[in-house]
Amino acid sequence: MGLLESSAWRYATKKFDPSKKVTQEQVDKIIEAVKLAPTSSGLQPFQVLVITDQKIKEQMVPMSMGQRQVADCSHLLVFAAWDNYTAERIDNMYQVICEVRGQAPDTYKSYTDRLKANYLNKPAKENFEHTARQAYIAFAYAIAMTAELKIDATPMEGFINEEVDNLLNLSDKGLKSVLLLPIGHHAEDDWLVNLKKARRPQSELATYI
Ligand SMILES: Cc1cc2nc3c(=O)[nH]c(=O)nc-3n(C[C@H](O)[C@H](O)[C@H](O)COP(=O)(O)O)c2cc1C
Repeated sequence: MGLLESSAWRYATKKFDPSKKVTQEQVDKIIEAVKLAPTSSGLQPFQVLVITDQKIKEQMVPMSMGQRQVADCSHLLVFAAWDNYTAERIDNMYQVICEVRGQAPDTYKSYTDRLKANYLNKPAKENFEHTARQAYIAFAYAIAMTAELKIDATPMEGFINEEVDNLLNLSDKGLKSVLLLPIGHHAEDDWLVNLKKARRPQSELATYI
């Protein structure tokens, strides 16, 4: 399927069939799409936690406004972003870039110095807002990939972030939860599965100047 076709096929699944599972190979493809998403300065300031532990998934339901998708899905992807930028995090990524490209370790020093001068002087809250925005970009890639694989998914920000952070000990990893993406296959009686996709017309979305 092409991107438009798969985007028209997908929908925000309201009810999963818990007996239908996604394979590890499919999960790997979704994570690969996350990996390939563009991010500001290439820093990829986030992680995806892939949860299959049923006890943890059930614990997430009350934290997710009672939305059962987090428990009934096959895999629950939690997108968590860096709680702040640090010199070490910036240097680690640029070390990777230099190694992959076979470049000298100080190739990007003036650029990373500018990044540090910018981010390290800002409050953690402001930096987290920036890292979270990067997570949203990767999230969109993951949604597109699930659709391409004909896997159902529910993009979700309807959950209590602090409670999920505590449950998953995210602060120990320097992370904060941003988004959830339960993936799997819909239940036959999901009320939304056969309803038409409703969107504003292109003429309202795009302005040609
Ligand atoms: C950032 C974001 C957060 C969302 N949060 C929820 C959510 O918590 N629960 C839910 O059922 N759907 C959630 N949705 C799904 C949207 O309601 C849905 O994508 C929108 O109505 C368009 O419908 P479609 O995805 O079926 O095409 C969310 C979507 C996005 C992009």
